Parts: sequence; C-alpha cells; structure tokens
Amino acid sequence: MNSQRGEWSSRIGFVLAAAGSAIGLGNIWKFPFEVGNHGGAAFVVVYLFFCFVLCFPVMVTEIAIGRKTNKNPVGAYKALGYKNWSIVGILGVLCGVIILSFYNVVAGWAFGYFLEMIIGNFAIGDQFGAFVSDWFQVGIFSAIFMGTTAFIVARGVSAGIERAAKILMPSLLVIMLFLVIYAFTLPNAMEGLKFYLVPDFSKISLKVMYSALGQAFFSLSLGMGALITYGSYLSSRENIVSSAALITLADVGIALIAGLMMFPLVFSQGIEPTGGAGLIFVTLPGVFQSLGPVLGVVIGSLFFLLLSFAALTSTVSLLEVPVSYAVDELGMKRKMAVWSIAGLIFVIGIPSLLANGASDFWSKFIELPGVGMTDFMTFIGYLANDSFLPLGGFLVSVFAAYVWKKNKLHEQIAIGQDHYAGSFVSKFIDVTVSIIAPIILGILFVLTVLNRFFGVDVI
Ligand code: PHE
Repeated sequence: MNSQRGEWSSRIGFVLAAAGSAIGLGNIWKFPFEVGNHGGAAFVVVYLFFCFVLCFPVMVTEIAIGRKTNKNPVGAYKALGYKNWSIVGILGVLCGVIILSFYNVVAGWAFGYFLEMIIGNFAIGDQFGAFVSDWFQVGIFSAIFMGTTAFIVARGVSAGIERAAKILMPSLLVIMLFLVIYAFTLPNAMEGLKFYLVPDFSKISLKVMYSALGQAFFSLSLGMGALITYGSYLSSRENIVSSAALITLADVGIALIAGLMMFPLVFSQGIEPTGGAGLIFVTLPGVFQSLGPVLGVVIGSLFFLLLSFAALTSTVSLLEVPVSYAVDELGMKRKMAVWSIAGLIFVIGIPSLLANGASDFWSKFIELPGVGMTDFMTFIGYLANDSFLPLGGFLVSVFAAYVWKKNKLHEQIAIGQDHYAGSFVSKFIDVTVSIIAPIILGILFVLTVLNRFFGVDVI
C-alpha cells in the first residue's frame, strides 16, 4: 500500500465508510418517493432484485479494481494497462460532479429543516414549496454543507470519514426505528403498509424497471467509481465479498426501514404517496408536531440532523472521486484540489438551486416526451442516476469480464478470503459480471434513453 494515499484503519472502518457513502438521501429521501411514484410494492420487488442480483457483483468488481490498482477511477484503468478505458473513469468523475451538484442542494434542504425543527416550526411541512424556492436561503445552507464536506475530505479518508460514520450511522438507525414503531400506532398505518409491501405485479413497466435500476445504482453508490476510489484505500488483508455483502445489506436495510417509516406516516397524514421530491419534507414535520411540543422538537431536530449527517458521509464520497482524480492524475495538492473542486461543484449546482420555483427557466427546464415538463434538477437526476450510473455499471462489468479478464478479477477478489475459488459466490459473481449484468444493463440503458429522452414507447 502506498502510504502517501492513506488506508482505512480497519475493515469495519472501510465497511462503515462505504456504507456511509451508500446510505444517504438516496435511502431516506429518494427511495420512499420513488416507491410512491411507481406504484408501491411492485417497485420494491424490482429494486430488491436489482440490488442483490446485479448490483452486489458490480460492487465487488468496483472494490476489486480499486484495491488492485490503489487508484482513482481514471488512474485505475491506466494502471491495469488499458489507457483507452480511462474514459469510463472520466465519465464516472463527471457523473460524481453532476450528482454532487444537486445532491448538495437537497442536503441543504435537510440541514435547513433541522434548523426549522429546532425552533419548533412544524408548519414548514406545508410551506415546503416556499422553502425550496427561496434560493438564497437554501444556497446558504448548501454552501455550509459543501464547506463541511470539503473540510472532512481535506482531512483524509481515515481521520475524517471513518470516525464520523462510526457514531452517526447507528444513531440514525435508532431514531428511524423509533419512528417506525410510532408510525405503526397511527390510524391508516395498515393502508400505508399494504401500499408498500403487497405487490401488484401488473404495475411492473419499463419505467418501473429503469427507475428501480437507477435507484439501486444510486443508492449503492455504484457506476461512477466511488467504490473504486474507496476500494483503493482498502488493505489486501480484507475480504471483499463479505464487505460488499455487509454494505449492500446495510444500505438495502436502511431503505426498507425508511419505507416502513414513511408509508404509514404518509397515509396517516392523508398525504398522496406520489408527492415526489417533497414527500419526506412535507410529511414529517406534521408527524413531529403530533409528538407534542417537546418530544416533537427533540425527535424532529435529531432526525433532520442525522439525515444531514447521512447525506454528509455520501457527499464526502462523491467529492472524494474528483479529488482523488485531481491528486493522482493532475498532480494537484490535496487541499487545493478539495477546495477548488468543492467550489466549482457548488457553482455548477446553482441551476439546481434555482430549479425549485425560484426561476421559471430552470424550474420548467425541458419537456421530456416520457415524463412531461421537468425541472433542471430532476432532469440531471434522470440523466446521471437513471442513465449514466447503469451505463457505468455496464462498462465496468464488460471491462472486468472481457478486457481485464475474469481470472484476474477472481484472483483479486480471492485475496483476503479463504475458500473463494470454486465457491457458489465466485460462480454467481462470474455469471453476473460476464453475462447477466452486461445484457440486462445494456438493454435497459438503451431502452431508458429511448423512452425517457426520446419518448419511444418501447414496452
Ligand atoms: N448512495 C448515496 C445515497 O444514497 C448517493 C451516492 C451516489 C453517493 C453515488 C456516492 C456515489 O444517498
């Protein structure tokens, strides 16, 4: 291991940091509203299938490439001797920049809600529209958020990221479980659970499939090299397969718990589950209010504070990707790279700040044949999450299986793990990375683009 680059202090440190990257707004903000928008339980079933069958092997592959090369996503392909493929790494770095630019805005909402909860302003739920269209205020919250992210990334992987994740992730879980139990006691909770857990398979459409696929990749931080980067700090003593399994289980587990919490709450408040990006922000303040003035403030502010922290461990990993690229490939000093890239991404995020009502141009950015009028932030979300991430997953699988070659991949995975060769897991990873992932991801990518951006009615 190159000691200049840093290394995770322990396996649990790596797992927690990678789980911290995976667990974030994707699980608690995005997952519930995607489920709500796509008909409930049917979406959940497709999502689970993609997480375990497609994404888990892709995750193992990304971590293995990172650990083998000790490099950022661009440098990794070069280090393996395939310079042309570094374009895939570049795509990943760009994707990270795009995602962070709008993710940081939503993180600003979460942080702003934390402050609103502290002062007991439960009415903010009904004022969500006005809150997000105040671009100046949200801009300040987002700037604070980006600054904090940069501060942590500047301190390096182990000191900053690991330590924060160790304490904060478990606290978030506890508070969510409390809210699940509370939600179950409310009127109409059962209806919410039914919507969330009893699938109507006739609702599975192409749109449900690609949205679930995009959600799975986004939530697991895959397809753009975040886990190549995190894997590059992993020591060769560690077991990649069991680490990836833990990360996947933790991420899926938190998403499922977020749904268990949200749908009973949404239905008990008489709110439509199709509320979109505002779902948790509209629903939760009223719920906190119903806990009474003291408990409401305590639970409400803790919830949004921990949500902000969950988002922070994700923004940290998003920023780490372009930063490691700039440090390794462009020879920039780490601190310089961190602050200049964070500043640049904040600026790139300004249209997203304006896209929620502040400016008509950005709020009614484009008429998409598949979905109708779409604001800029949602639009780049579609582009990055639903299209580029699965494309990145497709390319990384094809690369690992056919260019770098399967035996090299398996050789790397086997390091740090007894009895890997010939095991069921190795066969499963083999078949998925070389056949299932390229086929399904390739087809779905093409269909997604045709349907979402060109309005072609494919299924
Ligand atoms: N997985 C993160 C979340 O769910 C978002 C993310 C995507 C982070 C891609 C890194 C890379 O919130």
